[in-house]
Amino acid sequence: MAAPLISPSILSADFARLGEEVRAIDAAGADWIHVDVMDGHFVPNITIGPMVVKALRPHTAKLLDVHLMISPVDPFIDAFAAAGADIITVHPEAGAHTHRTVQAIKAAGKLAGISLNPATPAKLLDYLIDEIDLVLVMSVNPGFGGQSFITSQLRKIEAVRKMIDKTGRKIWLEVDGGVDTETARACVAAGADVLVAGTATFRGGPERYAVNIAALKGEG
Ligand code: DX5
Ligand code: ZN
Repeated sequence: MAAPLISPSILSADFARLGEEVRAIDAAGADWIHVDVMDGHFVPNITIGPMVVKALRPHTAKLLDVHLMISPVDPFIDAFAAAGADIITVHPEAGAHTHRTVQAIKAAGKLAGISLNPATPAKLLDYLIDEIDLVLVMSVNPGFGGQSFITSQLRKIEAVRKMIDKTGRKIWLEVDGGVDTETARACVAAGADVLVAGTATFRGGPERYAVNIAALKGEG
């Protein structure tokens, strides 16, 4: 089984030193950089916006995996695209016209992701799966790092893996929330190929980042 890509969530980084932290996880072996954008409306927390993504862009050449937990989302797609996001992932639960939102992300020249909250069935992907580049299965209720993995989502990962394989297209299957060295193995066995990890990456400080990322990959 191939090692998963690791996309550390900067939600668990030191927000007073975000540029330095992005450089540190890049050097420590992060494959992507997961940027959690929260508006205090779609989720009960507020984090960062396009200006911070723009400020972080020069600190890494790695793919910026931007997770928009905001509603409405359409007014901000172009701003995050211009700021340097590479993947823009949105929640269908955040608005009424998700197909149009995906079209807008692709019109901006970016990879389009759909993120499903724990209560949202994989079936919601039926008329989106052929348009997107990534599915993000939430294994926590979005809003905070450090929560426990919701094991019922393993069945959803398996279902999404089957849907993706049926398309014959290259679509990333990413899992987000409560991923640690133990749940990582279960996610990969269920069909995930990218893992978001905030707490499990940043635990122990900068001198531990490389060891933490290698352990999440199942190496070392
Ligand atoms: C939660 C975010 C996740 C979170 C993951 O709303 O979308 O990316 O930061 O954090 P951990 O890995 O600590 O559960
Ligand atoms: Zn996230």
